[in-house]
Amino acid sequence: MRLSNLTAGTIAMVATVVQASIFTPTRAPAWPLAVRSPYVNAWLQGDSGGVLPGSWPRHWTSGVLGWQGFVRVDGVAYNWMGGAPGPPNVDQISAEYTSTKTIFKFNVRNRITLTVTFLSPVYPEDLAKQSQQFSYVSAKATSTDGATHKVELYMDVSGEWASGDTTQVITWDHDVSENVSYHSFQRQTQQVFVENNEIAAWGTWYLATSNQNGLTWRTGVSDVDTRRQFVTNGTLDNTNSAAYRAVNDQWPVFAFAHDLGNVAGDSYEVTYTLGIVQDQVISFAGAAPGMTALPGLWSAFYTSGLDSMVAFHENYPSALQSATDLDTRIQTDSVKAHSQDYATITTLAVRQTFGALQFAGNATKPYIFLKEISSNSDIQTVDVIFPAFPILLYLNPRLIAPLLDPLFENQETPGRYPNQFAEHDLGTFPVARGYPAGNDEQMPLEECGNMIIMTLAYAERAGDTAYLSQHYARLNQWAQFLVNESLIPASQLSTDDFAGALENQTNLALKGIIGLKAMSKIANLTGNVDAFASTAEDYLTRWQDLAITKTQTPPHTTLAYGDESSHGLLYNIYADKLLDLNFVPQSIYDMQSAFYPTVALQYGVPLDTRHTWTKSDWEMFVAAVSSPSTKTMFISKLANWIGNTTTQLAMTDLYDAATGGWPENGPQFKARPVVGGTFALLALP
Ligand SMILES: *[C@@H]1O[C@H](CO)[C@@H](O)[C@H](O)[C@H]1NC(C)=O
Ligand SMILES: *[C@@H]1O[C@H](CO)[C@@H](O)[C@H](O)[C@H]1NC(C)=O
Ligand SMILES: *[C@@H]1O[C@H](CO)[C@@H](O)[C@H](O)[C@H]1NC(C)=O
Ligand SMILES: *[C@@H]1O[C@H](CO)[C@@H](O)[C@H](O)[C@H]1NC(C)=O
Ligand SMILES: *[C@@H]1O[C@H](CO)[C@@H](O)[C@H](O)[C@H]1NC(C)=O
Ligand SMILES: *[C@@H]1O[C@H](CO)[C@@H](O)[C@H](O)[C@H]1NC(C)=O
Ligand SMILES: *[C@@H]1O[C@H](CO)[C@@H](O)[C@H](O)[C@H]1NC(C)=O
Repeated sequence: MRLSNLTAGTIAMVATVVQASIFTPTRAPAWPLAVRSPYVNAWLQGDSGGVLPGSWPRHWTSGVLGWQGFVRVDGVAYNWMGGAPGPPNVDQISAEYTSTKTIFKFNVRNRITLTVTFLSPVYPEDLAKQSQQFSYVSAKATSTDGATHKVELYMDVSGEWASGDTTQVITWDHDVSENVSYHSFQRQTQQVFVENNEIAAWGTWYLATSNQNGLTWRTGVSDVDTRRQFVTNGTLDNTNSAAYRAVNDQWPVFAFAHDLGNVAGDSYEVTYTLGIVQDQVISFAGAAPGMTALPGLWSAFYTSGLDSMVAFHENYPSALQSATDLDTRIQTDSVKAHSQDYATITTLAVRQTFGALQFAGNATKPYIFLKEISSNSDIQTVDVIFPAFPILLYLNPRLIAPLLDPLFENQETPGRYPNQFAEHDLGTFPVARGYPAGNDEQMPLEECGNMIIMTLAYAERAGDTAYLSQHYARLNQWAQFLVNESLIPASQLSTDDFAGALENQTNLALKGIIGLKAMSKIANLTGNVDAFASTAEDYLTRWQDLAITKTQTPPHTTLAYGDESSHGLLYNIYADKLLDLNFVPQSIYDMQSAFYPTVALQYGVPLDTRHTWTKSDWEMFVAAVSSPSTKTMFISKLANWIGNTTTQLAMTDLYDAATGGWPENGPQFKARPVVGGTFALLALP
C-alpha cells in the first residue's frame, strides 16, 4: 500500500500499532538480563530490536536460554518475555539500563502497565554477597485505566541453563524453605570444572520466588503443556513430574504462576531469584602441590547452597536499595567527570565486567578469577585484567589483590612457570593450571609492565605497601626484563594480538618505560635500592626521539619506530597519570590531543594504521588524559556508537570505527570484562 492511499484513519491505526519502545539512556547493542558470573550471563540481543517479548534470552555465546514470561489480564494471556509460540506480545513502552538494572515497561491491552526489573546487583564492598551466582527479577502490575483488572503472572526456565549439551539428562525437585518456594535442577552426570559450549557441566540451578498467597507451580513437565496450562487457566497444578529426562526431550520447564488478584492501583511485587550454586568453582595450581579444587567463596558465609539461595532471595529489599545507591553514585560521578554521554558508556559496562568474575577460596584467603569471555576463555589473562582494572580502582581497589594473587602465587611457586618475564594467563577457565613448560601465549613486555603498574596502583590506593615487599623479588625480576627489553622492543605480540606481532612498537615500549619508573617508586616505597630511576629517565628521552614522527604535520607518535606513515592510540601513557608519576612530558599529551581529531572516523579513532578497527577500552584510556575537546570527541563518538552499532551482542570492545559494525575479517569479541576500562576517567587520582 502506497502512503498516498492511506486514509487518516489507517495512519492513526498504524501509528498505534508500531509505537516504538523508548530506550534510556540509549538503545544498547544487547541488554543485560541476568549477568552475575561467567555462568549466569544472560542477555537480550539486539536482533530483538531491544524488545523483550518475542525472542529468546541468550547466553553471551548467543545460545538460547529458555526463559518465558506470560501475563493474563482479565483472562487473556500475553507474552512479556521469551520466544514461546502462542499468546501475542505485550506492547513494550520502554527499556532502560542503569549500572545494575534493566527495566522494561509494558502496556497490556491498555488496561495494565507491567514493570519488570532485572537486577544483577554489584557489591564492591561485600565479597559474601558478590560471590553468590544469583540474579533477581521483579514484576509489578499497575492499572492503566483506573479500573480493576484480574492479573496473573507466569515465569518459567528450561533445562538449557543447566547444560550446554541439550542431550544431557537433568534431574529436578520442588520444595519450600522458610517462605521461599523453589525449583532446583541439575545435570544428572555432574562434571566438575567441565564446560559444554561455555555452560558449566556442574552445579545446581534454582528458580525461586516468595511463597505468597496465590502461588502455583509446576516442575519438570513439558514446556508446551505447562505453558498451555497457564494460558488456559491462569494457574498451575502444583505437580512435580518424576520423569527425569534430557533437556531437549519434551523440554522440561520449571514454572511459577502468581495470582496478583484484582488490581486497581499497584499490585504487590513478585520477586524471583535465578542462578546456580557450585560447591567448587576453580581448579588452581597455587602454592599447594598439584591442583587445588577451590570452593566457591559463598560457602565461607553460608551453611549450604540452599541457605545461600534463600538468604539471597530474602535480601531483595536491601539488595535493591544498595544497587540503587550504586547506580546513583556511578551516574552522578560519570556526569560530574564528563557528561551524560560518559554515563551512557560507564553504566553499560558494570554488570558486564563483574559478570566475568568468579569468587573462590575462603574468608581468610579469597581469590577472584576472571574469565576472558569470548576471545578464548583464558583464565586470569593479565592484559585483560589491565584494561578492566580502572573500574575496580574506582569502586574498591581492595578487589585487585585477590585478582593478582593467583598470578603471583602461581609464578612464585617453584616449578610452576619457567620464564623470566611475566606469565600471560593461567590456562582455560575454570582450570588455572598455569604453564609449567612456559608455553603460554607470550606478551613479555606487555605483561611485565602490566603487573608492575597494577601492583603499584593497588598498593597505593589500598595503602598496602606490605604487598609490594611480599612480591618484591618477582617485581624486580620483571623490571630487569624491562631494563633489557623495553627501549627497543623485539618482534612480539602486544595485547592487541589480533593485529599480529610487530617489532619496535612505540606504545608497547612506553608501557615498559613507565613500568620502570613505577618500579623505581616501588623500590623507594619498600626501602630497596632504586636501580631504575635513571634508566627510566634515559629511556624516556631516547623513546621521544624514536617515537615521534619527524616529517608529519601535525606530529604524532608512530605505531612502530621510524614508520612515519603510521599512527596509533598511545594508550599506555595513561599509567603515568594513573600512578601520578609526572614522568612523561606534557608536550607529548598535548601533541597527541591535537593529532587524534585529524584521524578520527565516524565512531572513533582507529587503534592503529593496520585497520580501521578500534577498542573502546583503549579509547577511554586515551580520552582520560586528553585535552578537554579531544576527550569530548572520544566520549561522544563512543556513546554514539553504543546507540548505533549493528553488532547486536553483549557490548564488544573491538569494532570498526568507520562503520560501527564488526571488524571485517576480524574477531567478534563480546561480553568481555575489558569494558571496565571505560572507567578510566573515574580511576584517576
Ligand atoms: C514468612 O512470612 C510470614 C508471613 O508473611 C512472616 O510472618 C514470617 O516472618 C516470614 N518468615 C521468614 C523467615 O521470612
Ligand atoms: C485447567 O484446570 C482444570 C481444573 O483444575 C483442569 O481440569 C484442566 O486440565 C486445566 N487445563 C489445562 C490446559 O491444564
Ligand atoms: C583457606 O584457603 C587457604 C588457601 O586455599 C587454605 O590454605 C586454608 O587452609 C583455608 N582455610 C580454611 C579455614 O579452610
Ligand atoms: C637481562 O639481561 C642480562 C644480560 O643479558 C641477563 O643476564 C638477564 O638474565 C636478563 N634478565 C632478564 C630478567 O631477562
Ligand atoms: C628498531 O629500532 C631500532 C632503533 O631505531 C633500530 O636500530 C632497529 O633496526 C629497529 N628494528 C627493526 C626490526 O626495525
Ligand atoms: C624515597 O624517596 C624520597 C623522596 O625522593 C627520599 O627522600 C627517600 O630517601 C627515598 N627512600 C629510599 C629508601 O630510597
Ligand atoms: C546515531 O547516530 C546519529 C548520527 O550521528 C545520532 O544523531 C544519533 O543520536 C545516534 N543514535 C543514538 C541512539 O545514539
